[in-house]
Amino acid sequence: MPSVSNKGLTMPQSPIRKLVPFAENAKKRGVTVIHLNIGQPDIKTPQQALDAVKNNNINVLEYSRTEGSEEFRTKIAKYYAKNDIHVNAADIIVTTGGSEALSFAMNTIADTDDEIIIPEPFYANYNGFATACGVTVVPVVSKLEDNFALPPIEDFEKLITPRTKAILICNPGNPTGYLYSKEEIQKLATLVKKHNIFLVADEVYREFTYDDKTHASILKEEGLEEHAIVIDSVSKRYSMCGARIGYLVSKNKEFIATSMKFAQARLSPPTYAQIASEAALDTPDSYFAEVKTEYVARRNILIAELEQIEGVKIARPQGAFYCIAELPIKDADHFAQWLLEDFNLNNETVMVAPAAGFYATEGLGKNQIRIAYVLDQESLKRAVRILKEALKSYKG
Ligand SMILES: Cc1ncc(COP(=O)(O)O)c(C=O)c1O
Repeated sequence: MPSVSNKGLTMPQSPIRKLVPFAENAKKRGVTVIHLNIGQPDIKTPQQALDAVKNNNINVLEYSRTEGSEEFRTKIAKYYAKNDIHVNAADIIVTTGGSEALSFAMNTIADTDDEIIIPEPFYANYNGFATACGVTVVPVVSKLEDNFALPPIEDFEKLITPRTKAILICNPGNPTGYLYSKEEIQKLATLVKKHNIFLVADEVYREFTYDDKTHASILKEEGLEEHAIVIDSVSKRYSMCGARIGYLVSKNKEFIATSMKFAQARLSPPTYAQIASEAALDTPDSYFAEVKTEYVARRNILIAELEQIEGVKIARPQGAFYCIAELPIKDADHFAQWLLEDFNLNNETVMVAPAAGFYATEGLGKNQIRIAYVLDQESLKRAVRILKEALKSYKG
């Protein structure tokens, strides 16, 4: 038989999706599965985005421009200006989701075996993109006891080698929910300038900040223009995960020109999805105010309920809609599978993401799970009750 690539063989499975067959089997057995494993919000997509696709008179569904339509990018630049981020349409490439922006960014800045330093736990697919690009992920550990704050800057500096091309952060963080402060961003900015490397910030959850905290974008840092690369997406912002639209943003002209060549190879981002995403940019601020209120209520319920369970430790999220919980078990992979295969409470069970897949360091996160609080408050309460009872019965 012809053989597949070594790269393919080492490609990690997504910890968020790998248990799906067990969830499907549970559903076939008539068990309801509450999905806390995936960041698919239940929030309604803004109506004007849906209407824009219905109410247009396209006769030929053509390719769009490689970098996304001029009107769309001009409107995106206005969105950033409203957020006090000053970029032009020419600094933006529209991509097929933040996912493609991540892969373009890695391919643009790194050659095979180059290194990118990432605080762990991190969005698990960074491992997948890095493997596909031949890039080595160098983790720096952030800790649950510190709420997953930025590790000491010396921990980053120790890891910098001639092969280091960038530091990659996610702000606010998936899976940690941690929101980096302006001071933390400034420390990173100083470090990347000192070592002449890139700072890549995945800011797809920019709007989701709680407790009156504001988001510190790397694009606001003066003097960081040549180093800063932002990954962005409409997926979570407007609950449009299926649109598959994201953006790559940088003031570094060489970076954008080089990324454009990767973008040209895949021709263009999807046309209908750009129409929907452009209309979504008119979403009134009241939408975000409502959505934020809902997420804060969900977070508060989730944390309060989890805190009632003996032996469970949680970091308090200040942004995004995820939290890492440490459980009184040894192997969260086994526990998560057992929840789907062998446990139910009144014919309901919970699907969670085992956290080990969000770490690059072998052995870390084994007793942790990631919970996405993307469901209504009642479902979250039921889900935590199920977890509580499950932990009493689990003999792993
Ligand atoms: C931190 C982070 N970055 C990027 C993505 C990719 O998003 P998309 O490709 O849907 O824009 C996700 C999706 O969950 C994410 O959580």
